[in-house]
Amino acid sequence: MTGYFITLEGIDGSGKTTHLGFLKEMLSSIGFRVVLTREPGGTALGEKIREILLDPSTRGMDPMTEVLLYNAARSQLVKEVIQPALQRGLVVLSERFADSTIAYQGYGLGLPVDIVRSVNGVACNGVYPDLTLLFDLDVEIARARILKKVPDRVECRDVDYYRRVREGYLTIAGEETHRVKIIDASQAIEEVRRRATQAVLDFVRVHSPSRSKERDDSPSS
Ligand SMILES: Nc1ncnc2c1ncn2[C@@H]1O[C@H](COP(=O)(O)OP(=O)(O)OP(=O)(O)O)[C@@H](O)[C@H]1O
Ligand SMILES: [Mg+2]
Repeated sequence: MTGYFITLEGIDGSGKTTHLGFLKEMLSSIGFRVVLTREPGGTALGEKIREILLDPSTRGMDPMTEVLLYNAARSQLVKEVIQPALQRGLVVLSERFADSTIAYQGYGLGLPVDIVRSVNGVACNGVYPDLTLLFDLDVEIARARILKKVPDRVECRDVDYYRRVREGYLTIAGEETHRVKIIDASQAIEEVRRRATQAVLDFVRVHSPSRSKERDDSPSS
């Protein structure tokens, strides 16, 4: 028995963390065992790499160094958390995965996307998301939502950078329409939640029809 790997993607402030919790609750309520994780990080080693990557005092990092550090953390996460969980039949819900590196370092920083993909491939070790929700949001709205937060090293980048990242994500979604579902994150939280839940249930309906029926039959659905 193998589980499902679902990733949440989108620019900073688009609502990934908010909906990760909601989706865990929903999937648990229909009988799935769910593991939550995030990138960069998700393991003790990966969280140390996260600190280096996001610390605003880290200066002069070469874009390829950045790709390799994200993928060093990813390699550890895949081997230590994601693959074992999937082998046990669990659903892994991850805030960010390989698409982030393509969007941020490929489209955002201008590294050749095919090279970023091939480095990602080494770290992913054959693991690929079954479903990805892309929380799509205007860059300025996203910035306004995280105004009170102290920006990390990546969040210090300018609006044009984030526009390229957003467009990069939309390009990925256009190339893989079957896997990547675009969620309009400009709506109110409850509406975004409804749409994200629907996208996951549509996936579950196809892959685990008996469990999605439980949801259909439940009074709270
Ligand atoms: N639909 C929404 N409408 C208004 N505010 C929202 C909405 N969704 C999330 N928020 C708020 O926006 C802020 C950012 O949301 P969240 O932390 O979930 O984003 P994120 O995508 O995880 O960001 P990051 O990439 O920085 O981790 C939070 O304060 C959250 O409460
Ligand atoms: Mg978050």
